[in-house]
Parts: sequence; structure tokens; C-alpha cells
Amino acid sequence: MGKEKKITLIIGGGIAAYKSLELIRLLQKECIEVIPILTKSAENFVTSLSLAAISKKKVYSDLFDLNDETEMGHIQLSRAADLVVVAPATANLIGKVANGLADDLASTLILATDKKVLLAPSMNVRMWNHPATLSNIKKLGEYGFLFVGPDKGDMACGEFGLGRMAEPSEIKDQIISNLKGNSLLKKKILVTSGPTVERIDPIRFISNNSSGLQGTAIANALVNLGAEVIFVTGPTNVPHPVGAKIIPIESAKDMHKAVFSNGPYDIAICAAAVSDWYVQNNSNRKIKKKDGATFPHISLKENPDILAELSKSKTRPSLVIGFAAETEQLTKNATEKLKSKGCDLIIANKIAKKSSPLGEENNEVTIIANTYIKKWTKMSKVEIGKKLSQLIIEYCHQ
Ligand code: C5P
Repeated sequence: MGKEKKITLIIGGGIAAYKSLELIRLLQKECIEVIPILTKSAENFVTSLSLAAISKKKVYSDLFDLNDETEMGHIQLSRAADLVVVAPATANLIGKVANGLADDLASTLILATDKKVLLAPSMNVRMWNHPATLSNIKKLGEYGFLFVGPDKGDMACGEFGLGRMAEPSEIKDQIISNLKGNSLLKKKILVTSGPTVERIDPIRFISNNSSGLQGTAIANALVNLGAEVIFVTGPTNVPHPVGAKIIPIESAKDMHKAVFSNGPYDIAICAAAVSDWYVQNNSNRKIKKKDGATFPHISLKENPDILAELSKSKTRPSLVIGFAAETEQLTKNATEKLKSKGCDLIIANKIAKKSSPLGEENNEVTIIANTYIKKWTKMSKVEIGKKLSQLIIEYCHQ
């Protein structure tokens, strides 16, 4: 990757530690030099010898090693590379760093470094979902740490779920992205996500089955590239993106207010499935069913169009991206939407009776711009989030 770059690779004590050897090989193929650091517990999974043999570098593991300290002090070591990568980042290591503890070489380096730190979490699904871990992750996100993964899948302990370390190839891609300066550092990006809820009365409402998966995946990918993400979301069951500023809303009007009171933005991505109408005659009391009476009349009024307003605003973001879910004539309708809303890109997906992407993990989208139309193959929403982030970086560099 052009001029030689260097990373410090901190290997934590988890079963995924063995994958660090493959990661080093992949990085070497890209001419990225690796300084390996092994925690004491990681020595149970990989040996210094195998690491030294593969990396062809000295392996550091002891904070109080006199020889190491005279050769290269730990503060110097923490600044010796262009990026610090922690893979696997165990719950313990994450907990220590989130709470400012520095009782070994790895945690001391992470606290002392003046470089960005990319964490590849790896742990059992229950450990990942524990409120203590989630709060540590949130804190680290706010401190500016970057994340890759974790993935969902089978675990070494026999359980299934979120917590598997990202694959070495994915960690490598994320490292390259950050080293190349392919980051979105200092970009303020709005992501709207999920459905909106329009109240009929305190119990009933009009909404849709948007899961918020796509908006969350996009926000996660953007945070991982260093962006400051403002995430305005309707009610969903998906865990919020770590490291983003979360603004929960209910109705389209709430979303409109949240969007316009937190701007201006460099980039806006409107992935929310906003209700086009609200109930003008909504009731503060539960509407009672009366025997023999017809269904009460619901009067619908159009909601403000957030995407269109953003696209036409005085402080228009330099890139505005909208979504279009269409049941027919996908390209034609989405192209018309691109023009009528005044945005730069539309991510279009087809809604069919048998295959609706709403709530699904995968999606097949078409990217519609003023000068091109590109169909992306079917992939996970997480992949779409990453691919879209790369596309955004290309736009930023134009
Ligand atoms: O007009 P339609 O609802 O199909 O447009 C979809 C796109 O417009 C999505 O990007 C959605 O987030 C955005 N939208 C909006 N405000 C509305 C309606 C839609 O931002 N009131």
C-alpha cells in the first residue's frame, strides 16, 4: 500500500488469538509492518515464538522488562506505529481501558498512545450483551476508539450469536482504510433510521415494519471510519450503533425537529422509513368502540419531508442520500424521487409480496445517481453499510 506503514498489534487472551497469525500474514502482503504485543493471558493461545517467526519482529509482553525498557520504553512503543490494533479485544481488556486501568503492557500502551486505536472485540455472546460490556463499548466509542466487528456466528464455546471476532481479512481491510487516510474523521454525518410512529390515540398508532437494521449498519460503518454520527432513530429492537450520538424519536415531526436542531451536517443519510402522513385528529384519550357505530374517521395530513427539506436547505450537506422502497418500476420511481427530493443518491430496494427487505438481514439494492445507475449484488445489510461508507469516502475525495 505505497509508503510502508506500521501498526502495533495487541493480541488479547481469547480463543480468536490464533487468528492474529493470519492477520499478520495478510498485513505483510500489503507491506504493513507489525509490532506484536502479547498479553499474559494471550500467551496461553499463541506463543511468542510463533509470533516472532511470522512477524520477524521482537514480541513485547512485559511492562517491567528491563531489557525492553532500555531498548524502547513503553511510552515510545505506544507511539511507534501509525495505528494501534487490538485483536482479539477481550471483555477484560476492553473493561480495563474503558475504566482507565493500565496494569500491563497492553493496557498501558492503549492509554498512552497518541494514535487511533482499532478494537476487534471477541467474546461469548452473553459477555458481549452484558450491560457492563455494552457500557464500556459505548464509553470507548465516545472516546474516539474505532471498532471492527464483532460478527454474529458459531462460537468456540458452542453458542451462537454476536461476539465472534471479525475475520482477519475484514480487520485487514479496516486497517488499510484507516492507514490510507480513507477515513471520515471530523465529518459530521446524520443518519435517520427505523420507522416513525404516528399516534391515533394513546394505544393505537400507524407505523411500518422497518427494523432499523440498515440505518444501524450504516451508522456503525461510519463510526468505524471516525465520523461523528448523529443517529436519529424511531423505535426499534436493534442495539444502537456504538459511538454515535443517539436521538430517539417517535413521530415524523419529532424526527424533523431532531434533524434540524442538531445540524448542520457534512453528509446526511436518510434511511428511516418515515410515515408520509400523521393523524390530524389524534385523540388524547382511548377511542372507545361503540356498539353499531362505524369505525371512527381518521383524518391524515402530510408530514414534513425531511430528506427534501435537507436537500433544499441553505446549509445543505455536501452529500445527501435517500432511500426508496418501491413495489413497482423501481428504477423509474427511484430516479423520479432523486429529482423531486433533490438529493445526490438514492438507494433503491424492491418490495415484493414474497421478498421484502424490511426486517431482513440481507438486501439487494440499486444505487441511483444523476449520472449512473448501479445494481449491487445481494449482500448483508452490514456489508451494504460498509460499501456505502466507501462510496461516501470516494465522494468526499472528489
Ligand atoms: O417519499 P418516500 O417516503 O418514498 O421517500 C423515501 C425517502 O425519503 C427516505 O430516504 C426517507 O427517509 C425520506 N423521507 C423523509 N421524510 C418524509 C418521508 C420520507 O425524510 N416525510
